Amino acid sequence: MTRLRDKVVAITGGTGGIGKAAADLFLQQGAKVIISDINQDDIDGAVNDINHPNLKGIVCDVTKEADNQRLVEFAVESFGKLDVFFANAGVEGIVKPLTEYPEDTWDLIFNVNVKGVWFGIKHAFKAMEKSKGGSVIITSSVAGLQGTPNVGAYTTSKHATIGLMRSAALEGAPLGIRVNSIHPSPVDNRMMRSLEDGFAPGQGAEAKKGFEQMIPLKRYATNEEVANLALFLASDESSFITGAIYPIDGGMTA
Ligand SMILES: NC(=O)c1ccc[n+]([C@@H]2O[C@H](COP(=O)([O-])OP(=O)(O)OC[C@H]3O[C@@H](n4cnc5c(N)ncnc54)[C@H](O)[C@@H]3O)[C@@H](O)[C@H]2O)c1
Repeated sequence: MTRLRDKVVAITGGTGGIGKAAADLFLQQGAKVIISDINQDDIDGAVNDINHPNLKGIVCDVTKEADNQRLVEFAVESFGKLDVFFANAGVEGIVKPLTEYPEDTWDLIFNVNVKGVWFGIKHAFKAMEKSKGGSVIITSSVAGLQGTPNVGAYTTSKHATIGLMRSAALEGAPLGIRVNSIHPSPVDNRMMRSLEDGFAPGQGAEAKKGFEQMIPLKRYATNEEVANLALFLASDESSFITGAIYPIDGGMTA
């Protein structure tokens, strides 16, 4: 119950599958948590569901620098500092070959999945420098480690976060800030329902079976399993780990 005692955490994409599970777990482990997302009603719903005195929510569209700054300032105003920034917001886009991929969807994916992470790091670092250290965790994907046909924009964006993570880790090290990325295989939540339907319109359940066969453990991850990895990287148990990539993929990239 105390693995994150006294730590202040901000989570982007905090009302989604992984983000909400992480908020819940981090609170159980003693953290003070700010969840952020794009929709106020979703934030209110998640705050009500989790129902914990050390949980607050605020809107943050990660594509807007001012929102990222406000999120970090809100964490510091609410709980006095920022120790952990979970850069978790992401969008999957649509399923189309590169030759047909729409430019506006490509740009949206890069704005959320890459630029949004950079904005988060930019402002989280400023707060963490003041408290002499911290941990940034970026949710990438197995799609950041290998190619995937027909989701080229998502795949490219999730590779890009590795370069961002490694650069940030080297810049953060002298400040005591660790930066790592986690790389889930398919997780059993909304995003996979959207992708299953994109790959096999109207036959999502069949698509799911096909994806499960590509995973040596023959199933999707749960939100909670991914949250457990983020917990380790958020906690001082990972105090000598920075600049690292962590697959959580049932053996998919083995
Ligand atoms: N679900 C999977 O199978 C899977 C696998 C590997 C990696 N991931 C990554 O995990 C992360 C979390 O996704 P999830 O699986 O919980 O799916 P999800 O769709 O439930 O959650 C994503 C969250 O990001 C939020 N978001 C979207 N655009 C945003 C923006 N501009 N600003 C702030 N928030 C925004 C959404 O509102 C949503 O709550 C994402 O980065 C995703 O790419 C997911």
